[in-house]
Amino acid sequence: MFVFKSIKLLQDHLSENRPKFGKVGFVPTMGALHQGHLDLISASKAKGCYTVCTIYVNPTQFNNTEDFEKYPSTIELDIVKLTQNKCDVLFLPSSTEMYGNHVVADKYNFGAITNSFEGALRLGHFDGVITIVSKLFDAVKPDEVFFGQKDLQQCMVVKHLIGNRFYNIKMNIVPTKRESSGLAMSSRNVRLKDDERALAIRLYEALVFVKHQVLMGVVASEAISIAKAQWLNHPKLTLEYLALVDTNTMEQHEIAGPELHYAVIIACWCSNVRLIDNMLLTD
Ligand code: PAF
Repeated sequence: MFVFKSIKLLQDHLSENRPKFGKVGFVPTMGALHQGHLDLISASKAKGCYTVCTIYVNPTQFNNTEDFEKYPSTIELDIVKLTQNKCDVLFLPSSTEMYGNHVVADKYNFGAITNSFEGALRLGHFDGVITIVSKLFDAVKPDEVFFGQKDLQQCMVVKHLIGNRFYNIKMNIVPTKRESSGLAMSSRNVRLKDDERALAIRLYEALVFVKHQVLMGVVASEAISIAKAQWLNHPKLTLEYLALVDTNTMEQHEIAGPELHYAVIIACWCSNVRLIDNMLLTD
């Protein structure tokens, strides 16, 4: 695996190799890689792409300093995992490489897609995500990109960004990788103590319950009230949202239409770790 820290060297390498490989596939990450990330690499390789992964913990998308400072970093191990999974290139930029001396996000407004749920609760988060993803797309110039469904709203934000500015890029959303308990894999899970990990499974159970109730025609708010009482009423759990949304707009709904692009989404603190998860009605 080639490792580059500068955009210039990365681009020189990709211009040399692009003709040989046809397509460049791109997997942006913030490191602390788990099987969910490796599935994104595999999805890119399976489509025959010359695969570039970035590891860059983007400061402008954190609205909480503690979350940024405590974000896990396991770079040596990440490099081993990427090599074992046949990633072709790792791009490891510094903040100066990505932002120069002005580490600030641009402002974006894609309506409810950027302003609801994660956008409302983590002010400026999507400004940071869109800013860095745009810079990375400009640097890598990928043909296909691979994002994990676990960050569903982020996927919709990126889809919108691609539709607005990066028309030639194909977006791939890869299903969430779960532990056998159902807990969605996340880099933040390493911060959960054993008892908290056991509690975190309740987010998955609540999602499964609401999804099935909605599919049976129960109004979302009724299903959600039951799920809250049954799974989320615990002193160590602080629910931020549990809702049925139309994934195209990220607007909340009481019943799902027949078009099938609906999901149940959740954000919940488990002690001092904030977890998000979601389930498409078609999952
Ligand atoms: O999902 C992530 O890890 C980050 O939000 C991303 C897309 C790498 C941008 O920093």
